[in-house]
Amino acid sequence: MPKLQSLVKALAYRFGYTIKKVQVPAAAARAAAASGGSALAAAGIRAALHKNDPYAGFDHTGFDFDPAGWGSESAAFAELIREQGDALELIVEVGTWKGGSALEMARALDAEGNTKAGILCIDTWLGALEFWGDLDDPSRYGALELKNGYPSVYYQFLANVCHAGQQSRITPFPQTSATAALWLAQRGVRAGLIYIDGSHEEGDVYADLVAYGDLVAEGGKIFGDDWTWDGVRMAVQRYAKEQNRTVRHVADKWVIDRPA
Ligand SMILES: C[S@@+](CC[C@H](N)C(=O)[O-])C[C@H]1O[C@@H](n2cnc3c(N)ncnc32)[C@H](O)[C@@H]1O
Repeated sequence: MPKLQSLVKALAYRFGYTIKKVQVPAAAARAAAASGGSALAAAGIRAALHKNDPYAGFDHTGFDFDPAGWGSESAAFAELIREQGDALELIVEVGTWKGGSALEMARALDAEGNTKAGILCIDTWLGALEFWGDLDDPSRYGALELKNGYPSVYYQFLANVCHAGQQSRITPFPQTSATAALWLAQRGVRAGLIYIDGSHEEGDVYADLVAYGDLVAEGGKIFGDDWTWDGVRMAVQRYAKEQNRTVRHVADKWVIDRPA
């Protein structure tokens, strides 16, 4: 059977087609349906990703608390979390940087008394295109904190989570958004909220929307930052039109709801 599948794929590829949709294994899809949306809830995702606790043995005391980012103190996070109510079990964030928005969402979950929901932070921690354009920009290139030519901002993120005491809530997934989406799709994961704030290039944002749009639980939302960026706005409008959905705005965030 695998041989036949690879033959079909090879033939399709030969004629210019690629298989775009990830086939969710039947067992994962059944588990997702049975659990009301998420085959792997937050704790299961942490266990499946990290054999060892990512915070264990990490000394955060040498770092100041510095979650400086963009759009991370928005009132939209608390409002959207409130809209999801007690059913909210998982938030996926694409583009975390130093953790500003993830920590804001963690605070909002605390305020709602939601102890079960986890936040999965997907980021390469290598910066986006605009981070590599100006070597004199302290908030982007400078904050990447290159060590021997390789960014180390991940450790500032980790330290911020520890300073805020949110280690049990926040799980890092250091990966590209594309690969992380495949990982989640293969396990039948569905999230009540998915925050898109990774690359701001039109093609990348559109690809994130296509990949993560399918991972939103029924009644959930995909939302994001930077509506004023042309690339973001055009990608969101294109995706919403194709899905026959409307884009609404909550504070500074764009939001697309998935019907229940
Ligand atoms: C604008 S910052 C995120 C800001 C953050 N949400 C905050 O509150 O400050 C964008 C982040 O997306 C990450 N990123 C860009 N492209 C990515 C990709 N293809 N996959 C994973 N992460 C990516 C960058 O490393 C960067 O940390």
